Amino acid sequence: MIVDGDVLLKNSFGRTGPKERLAELGTHLSFSDEELTSLKDSFLLPNAKLEEFSRASIESSVGVFPLPLGVVRNVPMSEQFVHVPLAVEEASVVSGASYAAKILSYSKGITSKSEAALQLAQIALLQVGTEGEQALLRQWGQVQDRLMGLLERMHARGGGLRGSEYRRLPSGTCVFYFTVDVRDAMGANIVNTAAEQLAPLLEEITGGSRLGAILSNYSEQRIASAQCILEDRHLPRSSLGSQKIAERISWMSKWAEEDVWRAVTHNKGIMNGVSALALATGNDFRALEAAAHALASSMSSDSQHASRYGPLSTYEYSEGQLSMSIQIPALLATVGGATSHPVAQWSFRVLGINLKKKINAHMLNRIAASLGLVQNFAALLALVTTGIRHGHQKHDRKNTFQDPQ
Ligand code: MEV
Repeated sequence: MIVDGDVLLKNSFGRTGPKERLAELGTHLSFSDEELTSLKDSFLLPNAKLEEFSRASIESSVGVFPLPLGVVRNVPMSEQFVHVPLAVEEASVVSGASYAAKILSYSKGITSKSEAALQLAQIALLQVGTEGEQALLRQWGQVQDRLMGLLERMHARGGGLRGSEYRRLPSGTCVFYFTVDVRDAMGANIVNTAAEQLAPLLEEITGGSRLGAILSNYSEQRIASAQCILEDRHLPRSSLGSQKIAERISWMSKWAEEDVWRAVTHNKGIMNGVSALALATGNDFRALEAAAHALASSMSSDSQHASRYGPLSTYEYSEGQLSMSIQIPALLATVGGATSHPVAQWSFRVLGINLKKKINAHMLNRIAASLGLVQNFAALLALVTTGIRHGHQKHDRKNTFQDPQ
């Protein structure tokens, strides 16, 4: 509903350039000319390259929104130390992780693994009767052949179709699922294109009508995990004592398992690192976060064994050893999308310094899981010792954009 005095932007807004859009918006803002010029020249459109990037990336762009880019030092993966670039605005994420990485470097290192990049896609059909369903089952081979043809380029790269299935939902909607190994890509474009091109054949075979064809951001088979065991004597010597610290970290883990309100915050701490790595490498952090919370919803179960939201990581303390482990969705890619951005390419080089070879998606997802564990350990350690504001305050004071309140 339009309220009297509402400012409406004309359709032509989308057809001009970032500078023109800023000028048009400027006429409606009560900023002084100096304020607007400073905002434009220092932050929104600081140079021609960023102006072009903003114009080429999205519609109706008015500039860029830069985030601080930092590097977490010396994350002790079992085979080498890795330096991890993070794009993040939150105080103490980078320093907290660097501190935790230092403590964990007294362990034998973080072991990690990442499963094949199996990307799921779905095609939903309405009005499929029993006959249509039977026709689909009879002509399953034809559907597979068509899919293999659509994914030919992926097959040539060593990936391709890995499975398909069909389900009828309670509402009667029929859903055809297929899984593709997308190698080093995130796979959204690849499987979306294949799904859209396959849909007409499914309609023809089943007599149904296409409702939608799209990837699923949740692929249970696309998981990265990491583990680490730390002897309690390597925990910081605070007034609590290292055994109590280890014990309390394992209690924090139980708290998150039993209490969804705590589990969400626990997982947010993990994603502080993982999403910031996704941003620094030009990856789709929204897909990652959506998948992380879906994964978290299958991690714990209640007394009736029904699954419910839980923490992505767990800690156990016994006989002087604190064992920690984590699972996250392995959605990070090293090719495609914004991963070709020069800053993302720089991040890959930094991540690969000690690897001495180009980083692939498999390694990137192992690093993401290891970093998630480091970040989470940093948060839990702070919570059971100094409290979280201690680390934040050190940086807040220096944050020039901080609200003075
Ligand atoms: C703050 O961004 C993240 C934490 O709240 C995570 C946690 O509580 O585990 C500190």
